[in-house]
Amino acid sequence: MKDRKKADEGELDYGNWVSLKLIYVPGAAGLAILILTPLVPLLLVPSLVLIAISSYFAYARHLFSPRGKDISRQVRRMVLTNIGGQGKGRGLDIGCGNGALAIMLAKAYPEMMVVGMDYWGKDWGYSSSACERNASIEGVGDRVTFQRGDAASLPFEDDSFDVVVSNFTFHEVRGVRDKGSLVQEALRVLRPGGWFSIQDLFLLKSAYGDLDALLDKMKDWGAEDTRFIETRNSEIVPWSLKLPFMLGTMGIVAGRKRARSVLEE
Ligand SMILES: C[S@@+](CC[C@H](N)C(=O)[O-])C[C@H]1O[C@@H](n2cnc3c(N)ncnc32)[C@H](O)[C@@H]1O
Repeated sequence: MKDRKKADEGELDYGNWVSLKLIYVPGAAGLAILILTPLVPLLLVPSLVLIAISSYFAYARHLFSPRGKDISRQVRRMVLTNIGGQGKGRGLDIGCGNGALAIMLAKAYPEMMVVGMDYWGKDWGYSSSACERNASIEGVGDRVTFQRGDAASLPFEDDSFDVVVSNFTFHEVRGVRDKGSLVQEALRVLRPGGWFSIQDLFLLKSAYGDLDALLDKMKDWGAEDTRFIETRNSEIVPWSLKLPFMLGTMGIVAGRKRARSVLEE
């Protein structure tokens, strides 16, 4: 119903990285426990902790939202600053959510055809229909298509894109312990000479292990001119979002896929 109203009003909906569940669950639990504190005074501490957690996520949601500081948009924009070339051909956004980065890519490169791909699971309120609606409102509906797929096994041929981007997706992929393997899969579908720019929690050791080791392995997977940009230190990131599981371990790996030599052909 709410979605329908938004569509009727032609309102963009790129969602929010902080789900309402993260606010409501600890908030409701904290208040429920607070009611019991006259009987069990010791419950005051856990109750206040839960309310503090809920308040933190509510504040973070506000910061990410367009009605707040629109941090998500600024974070996504950093992904696009690492793409060179003519801006033509085909682009791919892996884990496109409600299509924000895919649409941004299409708007930045008016001659590019863009594919936004996501598995649109239940955890997020994202959907292909919201993507299509957003693309149409943004005026790029004729150049951006959306399809379901899994970042761990991309439904595309080798070497099929000129540009591959992704934002805040790989750490969310379940069932893949070493998130570095998702970078390898992204490079597989990039054509030799093509550009990639992937932003994620690359400094979160539990997801990626040692970053230098990953950058080394990327050479074997065909990447060249690879650099790591510590976007967590960008001035757009307020200190309150620098927790490790928020933006505090964020960075971009960007570069190109090596052109194949005649000997490799
Ligand atoms: C934090 S959201 C980021 C969405 C989007 N990139 C953005 O910038 O708003 C993480 C996204 O990863 C997607 N995702 C998680 N696991 C995935 C998988 N195995 N394959 C494709 N997408 C996945 C989720 O559906 C969600 O859209």
